[in-house]
Order: sequence, then C-alpha cells, then structure tokens
Amino acid sequence: MQVIKVADKVAGSQKAFEIIATGMQANAKVLGLATGSTPETLYQKMVDSELDFSQTTSINLDEYVGLTADNDQSYHYFMNQHLFQYKPFKNSYVPNGNASDLDAEAKHYDQLIDDNPIDIQILGIGQNGHIGFNEPGTPFDCGTHRVQLTQSTIDANARFFANEDDVPREAISMGIASIMKSKHILLLAFGANKADAIAKTVNGPVSEDCPASVLQNHPNATIIVDEAAAANL
Ligand code: GLP
Repeated sequence: MQVIKVADKVAGSQKAFEIIATGMQANAKVLGLATGSTPETLYQKMVDSELDFSQTTSINLDEYVGLTADNDQSYHYFMNQHLFQYKPFKNSYVPNGNASDLDAEAKHYDQLIDDNPIDIQILGIGQNGHIGFNEPGTPFDCGTHRVQLTQSTIDANARFFANEDDVPREAISMGIASIMKSKHILLLAFGANKADAIAKTVNGPVSEDCPASVLQNHPNATIIVDEAAAANL
C-alpha cells in the first residue's frame, strides 16, 4: 500500500485527479466512484477539467435503501449534482436502493462489476474504518449486499439530513470482495476525524474490525491523506 501525504484536501484532490487523468490516458475505461464529502473537491476538479468521460463507465459503491433517485439525500442525486450533470459518462451505475428484491439487485450489481472490471476505484473512509457501507465485522469475502448501518455511521451522516430520524437505517453496498477486484484502489481521507481509522488501515492488523485494513492485501492500493488524517501514522 502506497501512502501519499499532502498538506490539505485541495492538494490531495489534485493528486487524485492526476492519477485518474493519467489512468485514463493509459486506457482506464471504468471508474468506481464514491460519495460523501471527501471526493467532492475531486469531482469539482473533474468537472472543471478537459477530461471527456463519454467513453468511460462509472460504477458507484453504494446507495441508501428506501430513497428514490430524485431524493436529495440519495447517492444517485449526489452523483448527478456533483458530477454527472456536468460530465456525462457512457454509462453510470448506482445500486438501486428501491429495488423490490434487494438480494437480486445485489447479485445483478456484482455481475455488472464482473462485466465491467473497475480500473480505478475511489474510496472515502468512515470514522470506524468502513469502506462503501461495509461496516466493521463485514466478512472480507462478501459481495454486494444489503447492510444495516451502525449507529456511528447514522450519527456521522445525520449532518446531511433534517434530523437523525430521517437517516436510512439500511443501505446496499458493494462488498469488500467486489471492491478488492478493482485494479487500482485510491482511498482519500482528509481531516482529524479520520486519523484513527487511517492509523488502523495502514499500520493495524488486517482485520474485519477495520474494513479498510483489507487494502494492505491489495497489490495496487494508494492512500492519499492530509496532515490531519495522517496525524497518527
Ligand atoms: C458514507 C459513504 C462512504 C464514505 C463515508 C465517509 O458512509 N457510504 O462511502 O466514505 O460516508 O463520508 P465523508 O467523506 O463525508 O466523511
């Protein structure tokens, strides 16, 4: 695992942008995308760039269960707002959290990933070390699946909702096994509230207690951290 330390979120997002641009020049055709506040500056840089995504496929990590794509808290909506409305992709996939059969949707999503192998997967990280919505304790061999969110994730994401009761309790997420199939994984972490999770990810034992620690087993994982997130390394 390669760790790149940068001064701040802007520098980290620039570095991530350069990795994506270079990857696309080298023929990366499928990008795995994440939501949350962490990749927002990266997406802004992609929007402001000359890059053309019309021949690129995007596959998002996760979606809340029970929110429609036009709900302003859904990850579908987030991606449209921050990226897709400005930079249309050839195809953009986000799990359907409103599917009547979520297990069938999960299977379908893993098939989609097998049919469109991800060249570069962008990840944020939860304060408890989750990636996508793979909470601590999720088996590493898990494919896309339905998830019960932990209270810590509900609390962390409540800031985006009018009140905590509105935060969905469930999500559908690419599994750790699905994420690990990506050829290159690029995890971004900015801010002091990620410092513990980053220390466990980089230096801790590879353990389901910290899902992101699995990246130590990936042949091509890059972690971009700002000074605050790197404080405990
Ligand atoms: C959510 C998302 C994750 C994201 C995490 C951190 O739980 N499912 O993909 O990495 O939040 O969010 P933020 O970047 O806002 O700190």
